[in-house]
Amino acid sequence: KSQSVYDQLKRPLRDLRISVTDKCNFRCSYCMPAELFGPDYPFLERHEILSFEEIERLTKLFVNSLGVKKIRITGGEPLMRKDLPQLIEKINKIDGIEDIAMTTNGVLLPKYAKALKEAGLMRVSISLDSLNDELFGKINGRGVSVKAVLDGIEAAKEAGLTVKINMVVKRGMNEKEVVPMAKFFRKHGHILRFIEFMDVGNTNEWRLDDVYSKKQIINDIHEVMPLEPIEPNYVGEVATRYRYVDSDDEIGVISSVTDAFCKSCNRARISAEGKLYTCLFSSSGHDLREVVRSPLSDKEVSKHIESIWEGRKDQYSVDRSYLKHKRKKIEMSHIGG
Ligand code: GTP
Ligand code: 5AD
Ligand code: SF4
Ligand code: SF4
Repeated sequence: KSQSVYDQLKRPLRDLRISVTDKCNFRCSYCMPAELFGPDYPFLERHEILSFEEIERLTKLFVNSLGVKKIRITGGEPLMRKDLPQLIEKINKIDGIEDIAMTTNGVLLPKYAKALKEAGLMRVSISLDSLNDELFGKINGRGVSVKAVLDGIEAAKEAGLTVKINMVVKRGMNEKEVVPMAKFFRKHGHILRFIEFMDVGNTNEWRLDDVYSKKQIINDIHEVMPLEPIEPNYVGEVATRYRYVDSDDEIGVISSVTDAFCKSCNRARISAEGKLYTCLFSSSGHDLREVVRSPLSDKEVSKHIESIWEGRKDQYSVDRSYLKHKRKKIEMSHIGG
């Protein structure tokens, strides 16, 4: 029943990723380095961010008129937003959504997992970059322990949420943790996805030399626990899947740098302040806050969004190597990955 809209590269719109806050209780070096996101950092103020009602209205339009089927809540850290389960409940009532997930650092899950599940959340992706406390404390910039995240993973599982683990791999930071992480999460029965370090935002001093590639990650694991590639779950899946030989246990690798997946990219992102981004690496967004706060009708707002998607040409990961000049990009903490 729902229509599809296609962009300039004939890609439909299917996934909507909604950032609900630009704040985070971590200061990961590759995302919000503490030196730059200090006590005086100008985070968005309450009136600048979309209300739950505004998010609900936009989500309805994306689902009913534009073909979206999957919703993912992101941040910053989404659980820093007050009363988040109430938003999940509103979204869960919208007809036509097949999947509601959230990306989180996990430490607030012991407090909220049950309420989130009851509100209709189905899945969580929890970030963890190391099993070594000292290293992890350094990476997250706040000295948070590994156990704090493991407790969050356990709470999510207990609550009945489907759990995946995300690990950003950066050379010189945590590439030695690849195999221990693979062993640990295989034993605990969670799918672990390795993410190549990306040049998101303007502050993480990305260099190609710091990327630990999909190929290297797979080689490292394969030497200890043999792997074989498996088919994607759905067209446009971000992670490439592998299975440990002679088992049903699997891992994924997200290779934005060495093996781009823009061809099938059906994802739109809305920042906490209501800007629509058609790529994770966009320089600027389209202001939807102004639009939802105007007298425009639902139909007019849908038309407006449709025309933005129809004009979309983004394929940053494919173009990356040709782009000679550095350009300004949206911060990861505004758009949630
Ligand atoms: P599933 O719905 O379980 O397949 O999860 P997902 O992989 O779509 O979502 P998740 O937020 O767990 O994605 C993991 C990471 O992959 C994100 O945090 C990003 O770093 C990266 N990622 C997701 N989508 C894109 C994308 O469109 N482009 C790029 N370059 N990276 C992406
Ligand atoms: N490169 C790759 N992944 C990143 N993330 C944040 N910044 C980067 C980066 N520069 C990941 C987080 C989390 C998700 C929100 O995006 O670790 O899993
Ligand atoms: Fe926070 Fe996630 Fe960014 Fe780390 S990667 S600073 S947990 S938003
Ligand atoms: Fe989509 Fe942009 Fe990521 Fe390519 S780089 S997959 S277009 S979000």
